Amino acid sequence: MRLWGDKLAMFTFWGYQAFIVMAALGYVTGVTQSKEYAEPEWYADIWLTIVWVSYLLVYLMTCIKRKEPHLYVANWFYLAFIITVAVLHLGNNVSIPVEFMGTKSYSAWAGVQSAMIQWWYGHNAVGFFLTAGFLGMMYYFIPKQAERPVYSYRLSIVHFWSLIFIYIWAGPHHLHYTALPDWAQTLGMTFSIMLWMPSWGGMINGVMTLSGAWHKLREDPIIQFMIIALAFYGMSTFEGPLMSIRAVNSLSHYTDWTIGHVHSGALGWVGFISFGALYYMVPRLWGRDRLYSTKLVSLHLWIATIGIVFYIAAMWIAGVMQGLMWRTYDDMGFLSYSFVETVMAMKPFYAIRAMGGILYLTGALIMVYNFWRTIRGDVSAKEQRTQLQGATA
Ligand code: HEM
Ligand code: HEM
Repeated sequence: MRLWGDKLAMFTFWGYQAFIVMAALGYVTGVTQSKEYAEPEWYADIWLTIVWVSYLLVYLMTCIKRKEPHLYVANWFYLAFIITVAVLHLGNNVSIPVEFMGTKSYSAWAGVQSAMIQWWYGHNAVGFFLTAGFLGMMYYFIPKQAERPVYSYRLSIVHFWSLIFIYIWAGPHHLHYTALPDWAQTLGMTFSIMLWMPSWGGMINGVMTLSGAWHKLREDPIIQFMIIALAFYGMSTFEGPLMSIRAVNSLSHYTDWTIGHVHSGALGWVGFISFGALYYMVPRLWGRDRLYSTKLVSLHLWIATIGIVFYIAAMWIAGVMQGLMWRTYDDMGFLSYSFVETVMAMKPFYAIRAMGGILYLTGALIMVYNFWRTIRGDVSAKEQRTQLQGATA
């Protein structure tokens, strides 16, 4: 069935693009409220609220008008994503503009409360912006591409409720060794460790959806994209709880270890599940039987995977080295390394990271080429041969 409210959906799309332009202009002109991941000033925040409420309305009305009585679990994750992001955005951006028609505002929250609210927002941006919606995609596209029902519907419901309940408490792990009271830091740490379970429950549910069709994992690069995405999801949600332990965080915090963690989630999980979904959708949206080339999908998969491995391995090594150099003392109790020495030591790893990034980007460009040819209706010679073999077999 069609979305409810075509025009409002169009407004949501263009309105969001306009918000990105506003945010980017704010960065380059220095008009920001200096909150990580929430830099845009009050006027952009209000605009985003209008756009986001339109999004919610389109989504809800489409759900209400549905003909299917059952609301499949992927929709639960999407809805949680839309609603929670709205709550976080409103909570963290309460501010008072200080001049009439001006751009500057001051946050309603101050001091450690402001930090706490910022990381309640920031961590749940990870949990809902970079995870819940993508889990919705996982629950929809893996069964579709594998042509198998989801492994356990019951597990998906337990996964949903435990994930959204536990995520919301984990924010203080970003504020270890700060003015935030110890009990709040420990609470954040404990909930982060608990978060490992629902995260892996979801991963297992996705991977096990292939049971009875494991051969597809060998043959279909689109499935491979989705399963490798889950492997990266599993990896980053194992690493996250580890980094949330106070003693580990004292080493990892401020270092490139965090950046490695971010990108195993961002490039591996968010990126790969999106690529898998796009490869599934593009031929269908343009009414084509198949992609221009499955071989190019495979090429994209391998180039991007090698790229991520370069990127995150370089960041892990650089991060741990950086953390250890910062805490090395000589016999007199002085720091053994100056800050600039720690920066110089990172140089080779930054080169490896750049190479990883270039490979990842190259993979994405191969995908764009494949889509362009698919949309034009082309089919590669190899693809035609396999089609012919399939028909004669
Ligand atoms: C069980 C799940 C997870 C836990 C418990 C967790 C925990 C953590 C911890 C402890 C940090 C370091 C905080 C610091 O030292 O400042 C961190 C940083 C971060 N994580 Fe995770 N993580 C999880 C999953 C993920 C996933 C799946 C993604 C991405 C899709 C992600 C994205 C990020 C980002 C963007 C940061 C950097 C935040 C910043 O300082 O700007 N995390 N996470
Ligand atoms: C080839 C692709 C990418 C490259 C080369 C890249 C590179 C970078 C670089 C250089 C930084 C700054 C890190 C620092 O402070 O040292 C960064 C930060 C970040 N990137 Fe990426 N990025 C890529 C893709 C992505 C994607 C797809 C996402 C999200 C889905 C993402 C999310 C983030 C986040 C959240 C941070 C902030 C981390 C923090 O400050 O703790 N990146 N990225």
